[in-house]
Amino acid sequence: MKVTVVGAGAVGASCAEYIAIKDFAAEVVLIDIKEGFAEGKAMDLMQTASLNSFDTKITGTTNDYSKTANSDVAVITSGIPRKPGMTREELISTNAGIVKSVAENLIKHSPNVIIIVVSNPMDTMTYLAHKATGLPKNRIIGMGGALDSARFKYRLSEALDCPASDVDGMVIGGHSDTGMIPLTRLATRNSVPVSKFLSADQLTYVKEETKVGGATLTKLLGTSAWYAPGAAVSAMVQAIACDTKKMFPSSCMLDGEYGLSDICIGVPAIIGRNGVEKIVEIELDAEEKAKLEESAAAVSKTNGLL
Ligand code: 2OP
Repeated sequence: MKVTVVGAGAVGASCAEYIAIKDFAAEVVLIDIKEGFAEGKAMDLMQTASLNSFDTKITGTTNDYSKTANSDVAVITSGIPRKPGMTREELISTNAGIVKSVAENLIKHSPNVIIIVVSNPMDTMTYLAHKATGLPKNRIIGMGGALDSARFKYRLSEALDCPASDVDGMVIGGHSDTGMIPLTRLATRNSVPVSKFLSADQLTYVKEETKVGGATLTKLLGTSAWYAPGAAVSAMVQAIACDTKKMFPSSCMLDGEYGLSDICIGVPAIIGRNGVEKIVEIELDAEEKAKLEESAAAVSKTNGLL
């Protein structure tokens, strides 16, 4: 299994590190445009191999896509991250050109690749990758919901004062500060609905903190987060590499599912060796349906800026 990670910045390097430590891939290629940067990150990571006991071979290259040839999976993290106070959507003018050219270069050298898009505004960048490459729709997936759901579980475990491993919950909709839909109605603490433990106000707090989880960290860090985004996308890479059929809320190209078409937005998806194996249509209540439609309208508006 060969994985390419485009962008050796904090998210890309964290993703490469988690993939290596999980040791399910034979090779990870880090590629970046900054001279020597990917090579340096790869070498630094390889110097942890004996300490972290992994056999994965990590190499780096400065913008030589021939080194990414025959990748099974490619993660696109390249582009600029947001600064405090910015929305993800404000990154479109810079990141659209980068993501388009990266996607085109990837498929030139890896015609069978499955692409996972992380770059923001992620739903629109995922849509752009579909249009730019023409790959089958199961082979381009946007990573947002996996990260947002991890933040949702963090906030739930904080409110419940319990381990995050005892909590389950999913966030669907657009990967944006206003478009995310944390499904509190379906969230559980070890199979018990969280509404049994938390008041309506507490659930509202959890929902709102989840939605701005990225912005909260950007304010604290001065740039976008990287550990949880890196971990989230590495989990999706593992699901593809190991054909685990795990279900992640992922930005998928919809063709009628949830009453939506020609849009990429976060919906429950079973992820395996073919990428999106199946989009799962769950029953949403009236409020959730309305929020998904509103979120989709906002994503379509951003798509219109391409
Ligand atoms: C985040 O929410 C980078 O969009 C990513 O942290």
